[in-house]
Amino acid sequence: MSTFTINLHEAVYSLSNALDLVGVTHIHHGKRVAYIAAECAKRLGWQDQHLDDLFQAAILHDCGISKTAVHSRLAQFEWEQNTEHCFVGSKLLASCSLLAHLSDAVLHHHTHWSVLKDADMPMQMKLIANCIYLAERVDVLSLACLVDQSNLLLNQHAITDQIVAKMGDNFCAELVEAFIDIAESSLFWFTLESGDASGYTATWEAHTPNKAIEFHELKSLVHIFSHIVDAKSSYTKEHSDGVANLARFLGECLDLPEESCEMLELAGLLHDIGKLRVPSELLEKEGKLIEEEYAIVQRHSFDTYEILKNISGLETITEWASQHHERLDGNGYPFQMVNGAISLEARIVAVADVFQALAQTRPYRKALDEHAIMRILREQVDCRHLDATIVLCVEQHLHACFKAAHCQ
Ligand SMILES: [Fe+2]
Ligand SMILES: [Fe+2]
Ligand SMILES: [Fe+2]
Repeated sequence: MSTFTINLHEAVYSLSNALDLVGVTHIHHGKRVAYIAAECAKRLGWQDQHLDDLFQAAILHDCGISKTAVHSRLAQFEWEQNTEHCFVGSKLLASCSLLAHLSDAVLHHHTHWSVLKDADMPMQMKLIANCIYLAERVDVLSLACLVDQSNLLLNQHAITDQIVAKMGDNFCAELVEAFIDIAESSLFWFTLESGDASGYTATWEAHTPNKAIEFHELKSLVHIFSHIVDAKSSYTKEHSDGVANLARFLGECLDLPEESCEMLELAGLLHDIGKLRVPSELLEKEGKLIEEEYAIVQRHSFDTYEILKNISGLETITEWASQHHERLDGNGYPFQMVNGAISLEARIVAVADVFQALAQTRPYRKALDEHAIMRILREQVDCRHLDATIVLCVEQHLHACFKAAHCQ
């Protein structure tokens, strides 16, 4: 099994860019919450692991939300309307050995302090959860003010008063007092207002060394994000898992080394991560997409590239993943690469993607059986979209491919 050398902070930070896209208009929520929470925590003297755990959990706190509509509802100032995303998010983190220790913090990021203080979990985690809760409400209140008022300073007292009013009930008194302190500084509000919070969080990446992590650990981290993408629409449930499985299977059939097969799996899981930016309604639209809508959907493979390109150690996987809509005749997107420029592995991901999508029901057509899929793949070879050797390999193992792609 291969090991990958990555910087965990950098990977979490970059992948959280994908999460931020779900907000569409409410962009960078996770990063602003991490900024507000970290400022409160520093005021309280938190350090090292405690601060680091807070930061990671804050950046990822809304990983249970895939749908744009849910995000905008939560962005309105409603208290505790939707705890479903807390359960989903905490389950996702629990599935990843690198982040499992943060799952309780995400689970309780909307739990009132009056209840949480007696919960059976370490005090440090309770404080992290409650600090995120406070920070995320400050961000929601701030954004509500920014809708009709460009200067947050004019609203600082109104926002602070609303947080103070919930002291002891929603929020731990110690955290509210730290917030009152930081809220006195205009620098705090200017940073929030100008979007500089993402610059602040970017510097957090740097203070951790690169670390060798095993394939299965990286896979479980990546799987969190592929799960979020696939959950955007009931039609694409487990699409990325299917593409990953089939890409690996094809890599094995074509005698690629084990390391390449593992990388193919990761590229399959990540290929559609840019879809987090596509509004769920477009993914679920029954009729044909109009030109404008199609342009929005088409952007996703470029966004996959944008999200992944900053994770050092994943450069090759980034290429394979973001080239899945390239076509041999040069009519693919977004790079318009031609024939020889597209690696064998990127071609494998492309075939696996088309195959898996055809094996699933879409709003505008039923799922196809393996023979109908094979006919379409052959047509795609004839028009120089897909690679003939890979499609021939599919034909030779058609039933096994169908099983590999069909994870549901
Ligand atoms: Fe949130
Ligand atoms: Fe795609
Ligand atoms: Fe796809």
